[in-house]
Amino acid sequence: MPRCSVTRRVHFNAAHRLHNPDRSDAWNMETFGPCNHPNYHGHNYELDLTVEGDVDPATGYVMDLNRLKRLAQDRLLGHLDHKNLNLDVPWFRELIPTSENIAIVCWRELRAAIPAELDFRLRLWETPRNYVDYEGA
Ligand code: NI
Repeated sequence: MPRCSVTRRVHFNAAHRLHNPDRSDAWNMETFGPCNHPNYHGHNYELDLTVEGDVDPATGYVMDLNRLKRLAQDRLLGHLDHKNLNLDVPWFRELIPTSENIAIVCWRELRAAIPAELDFRLRLWETPRNYVDYEGA
């Protein structure tokens, strides 16, 4: 059975601040630099959602990408797009909204909705030059 990976790219705008309240202001500024700015700042995030598995002979699909798009809309973008991640999104109430943590949260939220026989990984772009990959574990 031929296997393929298929990818849907989705987009969201969000604001964040990287700050660890358990550490000093100096430590936070040293560690997070401009991303520690108290009044927040925004990113244009791109999120590549990749599903891998056997091509279903009945449909010719690994997974209908429109279905993946709708899942991303309902489970992720509805919560994240045009939000302040620190203030508006309960997932980050006690979790620093770095690209790593955003990627992990997005993976967990979508993994549960994707058929178990398909592998799932994602790539989150915070800027055109910085990205994070996550595939579970
Ligand atoms: Ni930032």
